[in-house]
Amino acid sequence: MTASIVTVAQSKGGAGKTTVAVQLATAMLAAGHEVCLVDVDPQGSLSRWFEERQRRRDEQDRLSLVKIGGWRLGVELRRIVRDVGVVVIDTPPHANSELKTTIREASLVLVPCQPSPLDVWASRPTLEAAAQEGRPIRLLMNRVPPRGRAIEEAQGALAQLGALPLEASLGNRQAYVAAMARGLGVIEHEPRGTAAQEVLALQAEVTHMIGLPAARVE
Ligand SMILES: Nc1ncnc2c1ncn2[C@@H]1O[C@H](COP(=O)(O)OP(=O)(O)OP(=O)(O)O)[C@@H](O)[C@H]1O
Ligand SMILES: [Mg+2]
Repeated sequence: MTASIVTVAQSKGGAGKTTVAVQLATAMLAAGHEVCLVDVDPQGSLSRWFEERQRRRDEQDRLSLVKIGGWRLGVELRRIVRDVGVVVIDTPPHANSELKTTIREASLVLVPCQPSPLDVWASRPTLEAAAQEGRPIRLLMNRVPPRGRAIEEAQGALAQLGALPLEASLGNRQAYVAAMARGLGVIEHEPRGTAAQEVLALQAEVTHMIGLPAARVE
């Protein structure tokens, strides 16, 4: 089996990389895919979330996690993609050779970005890295407030950068924080909530973009 790899990257710290990686992975899981999360960030926040999950979930969970770094990364990623349907990679907020490897291997590079011109401008190095490697890339607006000029202003900055946003976006919602604390995605934590609807839309759009075949839900 060949997996699709989604690399979540953004050089700005705290933009929502780990949150987006968790939400996308758990939504792909709910859609019936076998998913492997890859934690490339030495901070290990994603691994910490996974520990919490393992404390609460049964052994049948079709979501796994590997923490990899260093020279083995490329080889390990190519090994993982032979075994699972979807790989979601969480990356650190700084550029290094490991980040480059995860971008090179990606079917899609997803760049979470808060809706302010400063954050959009800060996305430039990540956009350039993906362009250099010739990989498809999309911005994902995160922590979007319910109203106001923030989105309009961010869109102006996006247009200047020539960056494409996904149609899906995530609001600034407590459900994302609460689900994280319990080792869950919002789809599992509050399946009928607004956050879950946002994540389903994200999963559908990403699935379409990377041409992932529909999975069998068992
Ligand atoms: N959509 C959201 N709504 C509410 N809170 C959010 C949302 N997205 C992220 N957060 C919160 O913002 C903070 C930063 O998010 P997160 O850790 O996912 O960012 P990051 O890009 O992975 O950070 P780092 O660069 O340090 O790895 C966390 O406290 C997280 O719970
Ligand atoms: Mg993180």
